Amino acid sequence: MCHCHRVNDRVIRDVARQGAQDADEVGAACGAGTGCGGCRPAIEGLITSTRASEGVASLPMICAPEPGV
Ligand code: FES
Repeated sequence: MCHCHRVNDRVIRDVARQGAQDADEVGAACGAGTGCGGCRPAIEGLITSTRASEGVASLPMICAPEPGV
């Protein structure tokens, strides 16, 4: 994903899951996006998709019926 700092998408997804909300926060955590900046739009997209998928993944737990109801 980030060729300048050799950071792959898996690392960026992990950083997003740990709370990074934009490319600046990803850069502070792992360096991605702090070189030429060419990967920053892709990093922002990956943050959005990771956070969205985390939200979808949590829905079944929120909507699960209580046992015995
Ligand atoms: S490719 Fe990520 S900063 Fe250059």
